[in-house]
Amino acid sequence: MKISRIAFITVVMAAFVLATAFAGGSSEQSGSMSSGGGKIALLLPETKTTRYETADRPDFEAKMKELSSSVQILYSNANQDANLQLSQAEAALTNGAKVLVLDPVDSAAAAAIADKAKAAGVPVIAYDRLILNSDGVNYYISFDNVSVGKLQATSLVNQLTALGIQNPTIVMINGSPTDNNAKLFKQGAHSVFDPLVSQGKLTIAKEYDTPDWSPDQAQNEMQQALTALGNKVDGVYCANDGTASGAIAAMKAAGISPLPPVTGQDAELAAIQRILKGEQFMTVYKAIKPEAESAAELAYDLLTKTPVPDSMTNGQTVNNGKIDVPSVLLTPVAVTKDNVRDTVVKDGFWTAAQVGLQ
Ligand code: BGC
Repeated sequence: MKISRIAFITVVMAAFVLATAFAGGSSEQSGSMSSGGGKIALLLPETKTTRYETADRPDFEAKMKELSSSVQILYSNANQDANLQLSQAEAALTNGAKVLVLDPVDSAAAAAIADKAKAAGVPVIAYDRLILNSDGVNYYISFDNVSVGKLQATSLVNQLTALGIQNPTIVMINGSPTDNNAKLFKQGAHSVFDPLVSQGKLTIAKEYDTPDWSPDQAQNEMQQALTALGNKVDGVYCANDGTASGAIAAMKAAGISPLPPVTGQDAELAAIQRILKGEQFMTVYKAIKPEAESAAELAYDLLTKTPVPDSMTNGQTVNNGKIDVPSVLLTPVAVTKDNVRDTVVKDGFWTAAQVGLQ
């Protein structure tokens, strides 16, 4: 009697374990909604910029693991292909994703994804880049991107002044025309440059938008600019570190020495090393950990239908052309060789050894 009761309990427990495993579709990571499980899709845009695979993805995954061991993350990277991203999002919805965290390759085209998710009752978080013209966007988490452009432009202008260059000639290498952030960086930069241009204190000799944020394209653009300007350039505004690497390669190939000040963004390891070597003047550090962690917290609240605390957005919204999207906007920081230690190293983004500081 005693033995058979134990056997019965064992069978019931085994059946429960099996049922739980099958309900989630994966025995390891999924569980029932009541235990805080379910599927969340994380859709990132590209791999040439190092942040996505080295910071955004691992930081998001680590935070989610901390919040619940039973949430399954469906991860995809679109390699700069907006159509591929659409099919990745559709596959995530078909596979049962209950929240989409989407960093769109194309901010306008991604409206189709957010609309589809809305029709399926799946909330969407626009991650780092806003999704335009859709009422299917529930939250937007990013940095103050106009400020990023202002920081870059102000640092460049101050450095040109410090170098004593009168009416300097600069080249502008902006980001991808399909990325809403690129538009905001450019807007911030122009808000600093344009008044100087109208006062005759600065010349923007050439300006390019760089398809796909491609470093190779940026190198071609810089090469064209150098040819047109007879190699006479006093400063280069580059919207991120990848495009800065391309511009610097073009100037080195043209034999320009010393290199003029070049801006960047992302505090990529290679960029910090270039800054310490004197090849790149500045970058913008955006602390990705709090960005990815806020996205994970928000996604988890949406998945478990937990009310999102007001402190998350503090009532802040950004209009996406259709609706005001509740938003979390973090603060970017300018980094030159003078504050590498006090910013990226202090924050643990890179160690002193990684960047080559002892
Ligand atoms: C991001 C930048 C990144 C760029 C290229 C922008 O939307 O905010 O951090 O360098 O895309 O991926």
